[in-house]
Amino acid sequence: MDAINRPAIDIVRTTAELRQRVKAWHKADQIVGVVPTMGALHDGHLSLVDRSLATTDRTIVTLFVNPKQFGPHEDFGVYPRDEERDRELLATRGVHLLFAPDLDEMYPRDFMTSVSVSGLGDILDGSCRPGFFNGVSTVVAKLFMQCQADAAFFGEKDYQQVRVVRCMARDLAIPTDIVACPTIRGPGGLALSSRNAYLSSDELARATALHAELKALASDVRAGGNTEACEARATSRLLNAGFAKVDYMVARDADTLQAWMPGRPLRALGAAFMGRTRLIDNVAG
Ligand code: PAJ
Repeated sequence: MDAINRPAIDIVRTTAELRQRVKAWHKADQIVGVVPTMGALHDGHLSLVDRSLATTDRTIVTLFVNPKQFGPHEDFGVYPRDEERDRELLATRGVHLLFAPDLDEMYPRDFMTSVSVSGLGDILDGSCRPGFFNGVSTVVAKLFMQCQADAAFFGEKDYQQVRVVRCMARDLAIPTDIVACPTIRGPGGLALSSRNAYLSSDELARATALHAELKALASDVRAGGNTEACEARATSRLLNAGFAKVDYMVARDADTLQAWMPGRPLRALGAAFMGRTRLIDNVAG
């Protein structure tokens, strides 16, 4: 598409300008939705965007690769970044505003605050990736304050993240509704993820075992199997399928993410390394 025919999208990089834009929308009684992302957009992100476009009057997408949610040996430096491509995808979709702040706008040198959701943010991904949910909660709290949106759209692909963000918004009385949207999957049921770009075609094919084993785990536990034994079997099947390391494969209470009891909603959640790439997924039981 040439520069003249290219669909337009406003890019805003400062809180002050963003606030002005949102204030004008609210003054005109428009409902504002926000979709927080770290970019490298795929159809999973775009499903959240479509949900916001369909249910609100104005949609903001935020694009910020948040250093606070990466550990010192994780992939912050090589995380895929392509603002131009993301911008075009969002413009074509009809998104009204892209908020893409730089590091200084989000974390000026004298930034001192951290938001943490204790308990829920310390288990599963929170214990495998220390500090991860503090990083997520801090940046999402700030994005919520900056955007002042009426609704925010998150993917169930990051199930624990949605629970943590919901809890944070409730505890801090942030007046933004948290909307959880279903996981979008590719061939073989593999959940779409920006990190899938790190996988070879052979690894992509083997990675589908994560979804398959989560489904098996959920139905085995539902059928009355001993939870720990089912989790151990799912873990060893994943290792046999070519995963290098399993961080966790668990069947938990879908609300609290604590131990599951019969009669309660069930969620099977897993995190495992295909080569050096850490993948996560979850299914309802
Ligand atoms: P990111 O990984 O870019 O994901 C942005 C949003 O897209 C999240 O809500 C995530 O759950 C959702 N998403 C990713 N893959 C999906 C899929 N296959 N189906 C449906 N939704 C999917 O999650 C983050 O960024 C960050 O932690 C963020 C919330 C932006 C804070 O920095």
